[in-house]
Amino acid sequence: MATASEGHVSEEKFCKLLPKVELHAHLNGSISNETMTKLLARKAHLPQDQQPDTQALQQWTDKVEKGKDVNLVSFQMFKLNHQIVDDTEAVAMVAKDVVREFAEDGVRYLELRSTPRDVPQTGMTKRSYIETVLKAIQQCQEEGVDIIVRFILAIDRRNSLEAAAETIQLAEEYRAKSGGIVVGVDLSGDPMVGDARQFIPLLQQARNAGLRLALHIAERCHQGVESLALLNIPTDRIGHGTFLHRVEGSQELVAATELHNIPLELCQTANHISKSVPSYDQHHFKYWYDKGHPCVFCTDDKGVFHTTLSKEYHLAMMTFDLSRKQLWQLSERSIDFIFADDDVKQTLRKHWTNERSKLQL
Ligand code: IMP
Ligand code: ZN
Repeated sequence: MATASEGHVSEEKFCKLLPKVELHAHLNGSISNETMTKLLARKAHLPQDQQPDTQALQQWTDKVEKGKDVNLVSFQMFKLNHQIVDDTEAVAMVAKDVVREFAEDGVRYLELRSTPRDVPQTGMTKRSYIETVLKAIQQCQEEGVDIIVRFILAIDRRNSLEAAAETIQLAEEYRAKSGGIVVGVDLSGDPMVGDARQFIPLLQQARNAGLRLALHIAERCHQGVESLALLNIPTDRIGHGTFLHRVEGSQELVAATELHNIPLELCQTANHISKSVPSYDQHHFKYWYDKGHPCVFCTDDKGVFHTTLSKEYHLAMMTFDLSRKQLWQLSERSIDFIFADDDVKQTLRKHWTNERSKLQL
């Protein structure tokens, strides 16, 4: 196997060896095929009518891998994954596997995000959900998995204001209890549903309590008004921001993004498969990168979209003709935008400096 110091590695291998920061990864969207096989085996004893819809899973795989025109959207896959991951044992398995897989891909700092869920039939509560993820992170650390992990609690915009308030309250509580592992709040869910402006007072409350905000913004083209309000909270990072520069009122949206210098979490494969960008070369990375605006490559849902962070770097390299040095700079600059404290940033910067010479840059 090639090592970093061997120098003349392929571009794919370079992207894998590059130390990376992953800031936008949904837990239940990040389930690998291997973990899915283990999860389905746990359901094998169920009667046929209670079995997960494996046909839909196969159809989705065909759509993603073979480009077949299957009439399924990613949100149906998340629903299916939620049916399969319905107790704390499954959550623990998924969280540990996801952390290890990111580490194997060369990710040295990961912010994992997830929507706390309760499933009365299995006894899982939102609290036990959060505690299970935190324990899995701790176990990975104890096992010496080479990655620093932080946790972001997600509000699903499809759910009620009461549910969002509960999530914020839990985020505040676990931020204190987890010794800084819980660092922030995300707003996600189907962008075609609801108006996110209703959550703004709660998000402001979270920010005032010291939590950082990583909000999905302008994923679809109808969200201009809502997006401006979310940008001006201000949010600390933008998930996707696909239509910020392409909708009515764009001037104001771009100006707000630049005024607050808000980094964008960019997920090329996810956007392409979800058809929010027409082609890879029309991905909004180019618009923002050419402006010198902070951009961070991320996976979004590495399981659902069959990607890895290395693949996302390689894709950008090939699509936008980026050099190894430019990829290095993008990866190193990502450290500035993490939600962990300055000590972690220092540790990561030292690690990047050590790795740089090995990659002969
Ligand atoms: P979980 O929060 O760990 O259960 O991860 C799956 C959830 O993440 C989904 O149910 C959505 O709410 C959210 N999610 C994943 N990908 C996207 C996206 O691209 N846009 C908006 N929400 C997303
Ligand atoms: Zn997302």
